[in-house]
Amino acid sequence: MQEKTLMLPGPTPVPPRVLRAMGTPMINHRGVDFSTLFTEVEAGLKDVFQTNNDLVILPAAGSGGMESAVVNLLSPGDKALFAVMGVFGQRFVDIATGYRVEPLVVEAPWGEAVKPEQIQEKLAADKDHEIKAVFVTHNETSTGVTLDLERVTQVVQEHPAILVVDAVSSLGAIDLKTDAWGIDVVVTGSQKALMVPPGLALVSVSQRAWEVVRENGCCSYYWNWEAYRKLTEKKQTPYTPAVTLWFALREALTMIREEGLKQIFERHALMAEMVRTGARALGLDLLAGDAVASNTITAVRSPAGINVKDLRRCLEAVYGVVVAGGQKKLAGEVFRIGHLGYVFPNDIINVLNALDLCLLDLGHDHEAGAAVKAAGEVLKRRGKEK
Ligand SMILES: Cc1ncc(COP(=O)(O)O)c(C=O)c1O
Repeated sequence: MQEKTLMLPGPTPVPPRVLRAMGTPMINHRGVDFSTLFTEVEAGLKDVFQTNNDLVILPAAGSGGMESAVVNLLSPGDKALFAVMGVFGQRFVDIATGYRVEPLVVEAPWGEAVKPEQIQEKLAADKDHEIKAVFVTHNETSTGVTLDLERVTQVVQEHPAILVVDAVSSLGAIDLKTDAWGIDVVVTGSQKALMVPPGLALVSVSQRAWEVVRENGCCSYYWNWEAYRKLTEKKQTPYTPAVTLWFALREALTMIREEGLKQIFERHALMAEMVRTGARALGLDLLAGDAVASNTITAVRSPAGINVKDLRRCLEAVYGVVVAGGQKKLAGEVFRIGHLGYVFPNDIINVLNALDLCLLDLGHDHEAGAAVKAAGEVLKRRGKEK
């Protein structure tokens, strides 16, 4: 059977080394072996989060990590500000309104980034400091847009609100300096840049955030961060951890350390440029402008007359390349190429080649081979710059 090439914004391909680590025999999660595993994973993760803050590692999807932030930091009736520029920004609003939090929202059209000034304006108008937390998406996976997070941290610091960042599709691929930028809470998931199968939500929590958590008094049993904090000293978790995923994460973190964060960020920037250049060489339009375009995922508009479903079907059935469709209001309008995690420039060449051939098959008019040629030039130029 043909092995498929996953070019999704998640789950991403899992390296063979990580898969092998998942075959490690089970251990006692209350014994010394798990404490060692915990210590190693914690150290590796702190490097990737660029933090000394505490970490909470939950057996959950990324959305579970998001929900845990809402329930630990806020109570019904609290006000919070949400920056929405696509599906995942909206998810935070939906989770919070489910807990009867009162949402204030700043928005950007899909394909654009929320401007830090929009957040600054709302916070400046909140003279009585009623806004308890600001929720932002670092990298909006539904549109392929990255927020100017560093600038956002600066404007949020003018107000006492806690800053919560959804970094599910950025952490470990796009620079995010948790401590240097003073971010209180960062949430990510295992199945993206961390190269681990889905199932772990990882959250960093600052001292300031812990104070809010204590004042708030969490209403949830499963998502209770305090329960995690108490057991962190013993290098254990309050209930049975997803041990196999921890084995996987330890191996993936070793790989990340071997390659180096800076090199990983550069590889992602290179792949994103290859995708954008290659797609444009086929005459395709991109949803996001270059100034806000993501290094981990690119949303490409399907050309007039070409059905996204037909295109994705061709890519998968003929070339074994799996890309994502558009979400919500972008369904049928765009397809999304994920280029994060265990993905390399040759994978980009592969997906662009398949795209070129499928588009030709579907009747699109372009010069055959143009995408690979253009992306190859980006690769050569970057190679020479080194
Ligand atoms: C930016 C962002 N936030 C949150 C999520 C939700 O993660 P999960 O699907 O693991 O719940 C995703 C998933 O794609 C995401 O890309």
